[in-house]
Amino acid sequence: MVNYKELGLVNTRDMFAKAVKGGYAIPAFNFNTMEQMQAIVQAAVETKSPVIMQVSKGARKYANATILRYMAQGAVEYAKELGCANPQIVLHLDHGDSFELCKDCIDMGFSSVMIDGSSLPYEENIALTKKVVEYAHKYDVTVEAELGVLAGVEDEVASEVSHYTKPEEVVDFATRTGCDSLAISIGTSHGAYKFKPEQCTRDPKTGKLVPPPLAFDVLEAIEKQLPGFPIVLHGSSSVPQDEVDTINKYGGKLPDAVGIPEEQLRKAAKSAVCKINIDSDSRLAMTAAIRQHFAENPSHFDPRQYLAPARENMKKMYIHKILNVLGSNDKL
Ligand code: G3H
Ligand code: 13P
Ligand code: ZN
Repeated sequence: MVNYKELGLVNTRDMFAKAVKGGYAIPAFNFNTMEQMQAIVQAAVETKSPVIMQVSKGARKYANATILRYMAQGAVEYAKELGCANPQIVLHLDHGDSFELCKDCIDMGFSSVMIDGSSLPYEENIALTKKVVEYAHKYDVTVEAELGVLAGVEDEVASEVSHYTKPEEVVDFATRTGCDSLAISIGTSHGAYKFKPEQCTRDPKTGKLVPPPLAFDVLEAIEKQLPGFPIVLHGSSSVPQDEVDTINKYGGKLPDAVGIPEEQLRKAAKSAVCKINIDSDSRLAMTAAIRQHFAENPSHFDPRQYLAPARENMKKMYIHKILNVLGSNDKL
């Protein structure tokens, strides 16, 4: 059993309480590689921001669970080496799909876990979440749960049943499970294709796709039911057009990729939304830099030659999110 406190990590409790009160959101960046981890830590230290480093089930398999535990400890020590006396770093399991996976992560030093029972019937979601909460809280590990399905607007329009989180269920769900934060569905979705072109309008100046707004009325109704309770937004990459253009210019093929406009995330960050999940934007930043590097330097084959600019580009994106979208800078 590895206790996260011995690794210098923190759970999300105080972090979220401060964020909700302060009207900002904590960045939750997914990582799979050392370069992503380095860029996340550098960005958090330079902006004096708390940060959640999150690992999906697939990332854990890719990187190896033991290596991840040491990477998280390394992240804390690296932050100190970069001059941050009191780093606030969470190691979080993203989209845990079973009690066993959550338990394994808790036993291996994670300070926070998500149990994603959103695809289960309501009562089963409650039972599974409650079981994880009971185990996690023994070790002061915080638990994120999910209610509502992150289907995206396209399914919302097409389906007869709403996938959005039902505000009338959130009090019962939070009370009966004891979860520490709640991921909700208000129109965001995972990946780089969040909306179909026919759901968007075109900006007449740039010709770029402008997606429909998120369901802020649903968010407000949830906040009314659970005042001050930490809310989480998944699927919150903005899919920056300059990165998509760079990828396409240098041989990639990402037609009509579209994300959540940053002004909508800025608005969400000021509400009870205190954790915003970003993965795809990091993938795009890394891929754009690598594609450009290879196109401009066809003779390069040392991974450091192309991974260093990739790391730099991700760091630039992380810093931009912290300073200009989430507002979590200068909070350490
Ligand atoms: O929400 C999903 C994250 O973007 C992680 O994706 O399962 O491909 O690692 P992944
Ligand atoms: P994006 O695909 O929008 O980056 O969402 C990531 C996420 O929600 C991870 O849980
Ligand atoms: Zn997610």
